[in-house]
Amino acid sequence: MMAKFFPFSIIVFIAISTVFAFDDIDSLKCSSGRYEDRIDCHPDPPVSRENCLERKCCWQEIENSSITDQQSLNLPILPKIGIPSCYFGENYVGYRVENFDHSSSSSLSLNLKRIQSSGFLFDIKNVKVNIEELSDKVVRIRFTDNDDPNRFEVPIPKLNLPKRSSSSSPSLLYNVSIVDNNRLIIRRLETNQSIIDINLAQLIYSDQFIQVTTRLPSNYIYGIGEHRAPFRKSTYWTRYTQWVSGLYPRPDHALYGNHPFYLVVEDESPSKSASGVFLFNSNAMDIITQPSPAITFRTIGGILDFFVFFGPKPEQVVQQYHHLIGLPAMPPFWSLGFHLSRYGYNNFTNLNETFMRNIKAGVPLDVQWTDIDMFDSFNDFTYDHKQFKELPDFIDNVLHANGMKFIPMFDCGISAGEPKKSYRPYDYGIEMDLFIKNSTDQLFLGKVWNKNTTVWPDFSHPNATKYWSKMFEEYHKIIEFDGAWIDMNEPTSFWSGQENGCPEGSRYENPQYVPGMVNENLTLRYMTLCMTAKHYHEQLHYNLHNLYSLSEAIATNAALTNLKKRPFILSRATAPGHGHWASHWDGDIVSDWSSMRWSISSILNFNLFGIPMVGADICGFNLSTTVELCTRWYQLGAFYTFARNHNDIYSSDQDPAALGGTVLKAAVSSLYVRYVLLLYLYTLFYNVHQNGGTVLRPMFFEFPDDKHSYEIETQFMWGDSILIAPILYPNQTEHKVYLPKGTWLKTDQLIIKSQGQYFTIQDKLDLVNYVFFRGGSIIPLQHLEKNTKLMNSIDFGLFVILDRQNSSAYAKGSLYLDSGDSLDPVKNGQYNFYNFEAKNNTLLIQSEWLGHKTSQNIDPIIIFEVLEEPISIRVNGNESIIKGFSYNKNEKSLYVPTKLPIYNEKSSSSTTTTNDHHRIHYLIEW
Ligand code: GLC
Repeated sequence: MMAKFFPFSIIVFIAISTVFAFDDIDSLKCSSGRYEDRIDCHPDPPVSRENCLERKCCWQEIENSSITDQQSLNLPILPKIGIPSCYFGENYVGYRVENFDHSSSSSLSLNLKRIQSSGFLFDIKNVKVNIEELSDKVVRIRFTDNDDPNRFEVPIPKLNLPKRSSSSSPSLLYNVSIVDNNRLIIRRLETNQSIIDINLAQLIYSDQFIQVTTRLPSNYIYGIGEHRAPFRKSTYWTRYTQWVSGLYPRPDHALYGNHPFYLVVEDESPSKSASGVFLFNSNAMDIITQPSPAITFRTIGGILDFFVFFGPKPEQVVQQYHHLIGLPAMPPFWSLGFHLSRYGYNNFTNLNETFMRNIKAGVPLDVQWTDIDMFDSFNDFTYDHKQFKELPDFIDNVLHANGMKFIPMFDCGISAGEPKKSYRPYDYGIEMDLFIKNSTDQLFLGKVWNKNTTVWPDFSHPNATKYWSKMFEEYHKIIEFDGAWIDMNEPTSFWSGQENGCPEGSRYENPQYVPGMVNENLTLRYMTLCMTAKHYHEQLHYNLHNLYSLSEAIATNAALTNLKKRPFILSRATAPGHGHWASHWDGDIVSDWSSMRWSISSILNFNLFGIPMVGADICGFNLSTTVELCTRWYQLGAFYTFARNHNDIYSSDQDPAALGGTVLKAAVSSLYVRYVLLLYLYTLFYNVHQNGGTVLRPMFFEFPDDKHSYEIETQFMWGDSILIAPILYPNQTEHKVYLPKGTWLKTDQLIIKSQGQYFTIQDKLDLVNYVFFRGGSIIPLQHLEKNTKLMNSIDFGLFVILDRQNSSAYAKGSLYLDSGDSLDPVKNGQYNFYNFEAKNNTLLIQSEWLGHKTSQNIDPIIIFEVLEEPISIRVNGNESIIKGFSYNKNEKSLYVPTKLPIYNEKSSSSTTTTNDHHRIHYLIEW
């Protein structure tokens, strides 16, 4: 064996191994393999011993005795997908590593040569593997066809590749090695833990079937979506299919989003580091986990283009991913308020009644929505002049006049069945030749809500933005909307293809392998378009299906920007990069307890995926909710980043005032706490808009040393400072809440010291006692007004919760402020940013950036964990500024009325190019 060392820490161990002839099964090294390590060599049906041996693979059916072996592994008895009977032997060589090119200081290339058929049509003979150091913390691994540079590659999002520092890389977190001639191993340098471990000889790379497996560093794996599954993913033979589908969320099925990204915690390592992997491929795909632990990516097109993120903290892994695919959008402040919606107001009177009863009941409210029943004949860009005659006036004189907003639906399907020259969205699209075509270059006709037929704008067309923006502009003159709801954009078609199906003979319609969870009949076209449908430049829907919603979100973002609105877009379907343009909700979940619980896993997942503005329809969508469920759902949903009540046309009213009683009480009290905390939430959005990362966060991101937190999916955090632990099961009057080690402040202003333990919390409808503030935090709070517009100009206070875990007391926090809906406030410098830091008996408040004029003050400041009553309080050395203060001995809290302005004319920095970093500076001492 020979070892070579390369500049960027690539180590190559070249061993000249024998290539086996595989003449008979005995020469296949099959016996020593553990069941949990088997990699499927014949994933396409039909599988038989004969077919298996033909592929030179090992065959052994799993019998009862082997199931017993599985039991001894402490795993559930029946795997979700079968343990493969046909699997690669240890000495299987499908591809042979032919030569290395390591002439570059930051990359290594290998050539792989196919030496025997994989059994899939059109094996790619020569595969090039390029491993590139993109930065100290990010590696890219690309597998391409060496003879055909024109294979399909994902066109959007445009990736922001990390910039390499020009200096040599002293902080490189990993090294790359090729071991035993064919194993590609990438290790974390600090721990020597392998993060990627691929046997290249077992790669399958054919035109319509590509499969690669890597071992995982642990079975603490998260991400991979969208699926109705626990947040922590199972590694027990589980399949997660990536094929965007409009069916209501159900287990073991592909859902609305496609996110081939996972995060894994290397739990055995002392530093509890985390890493992440993203596969930049948009074709239909199965991702399969198995107990080794290992993960297999099986895609039916495109290329393999992996990005590996080395964190090392979980939040850093996610930030590195978001930098690559596009940082999350900065939402308008109003979109963080409460939203009221339903399918089936059916007329303006019902809408108005619902709106008014909630306003009268004191429900804070920012946005009123309408669904397709507001349209004329379910057609986009229209409204029903009879049933919703008063709507334009209501938007103007009630909503906008009182600082509220309005959002209608924009389905992506356009009616193709209106009389000629009567429906502009269709006529203009035809004029621009903008709709998706079928395989014979006619319009692709399908069916959604419209009465007759439907066509779809091809958002990959270079003129799509022009078309969509024009339609938005014209509609805005009639209905003054403030944001956009883009739905059915998987895209869903009720016909599954055209009226007469799809061209059956095509290998794109019926590929050799179809991912497993697309539907019972394993047809890709089920509830969508034909795979042979054509987009711009003859691109097949087969390749672009999973990207349709992203291209629509990009065009919609441009259309709203064109109307001078800071874009707020709600989209059902999603793809990597989506969060840069739009947000997401959980779609058509059922009004039941398990859907409510799943929503936590879902919102955490979408934060990993870079779509932090996310929520489920509060109280559920399909079927009617119950009073108890809806009560609990408000207590949870008030803490989604996107908080909207919406439901189906067949379900009974479920807005807070309609159900009244406990529902109303829970809605008002929990939304009250939400609104009080909105500045904190807005600041979290600013942080991810700047750096990527999560707004809603799993507990283990903050407490990686607390292994118990790895499993908790019933609680979640807002950033690093607030923990939310609502009741999620029926018939509970109390519940257990896990508080990681540290100091926590309850909403009743009492401090809890936890050693990392459970506490029993009594249910109190009007006291939101399932929300906890973490010691060491400084959190801005505001008084509640009826909507966010009214809160934009009022003073705010600070909660300072000193952490006394070490000998000194400490807390920190920050605040972002802007006008709430200006375009690109960060890029244009039209915002303020402040840092707060408390140490022992001082609090320092400093501006970092001042570009937004405001007359707000900080008032009051409440400091917790102050052990002794102070004698005096000084601001910048002056005692006369503070007019009185009070100390509560029992709570050990200090209340200081402050009235400290946070901006003054002279401090403006928007007119200068440089920003004075210390224009607002208060040192408060007690
Ligand atoms: C879809 C949406 C749902 C909406 C309905 C009618 O099912 O997911 O929210 O109410 O269409 O437009």
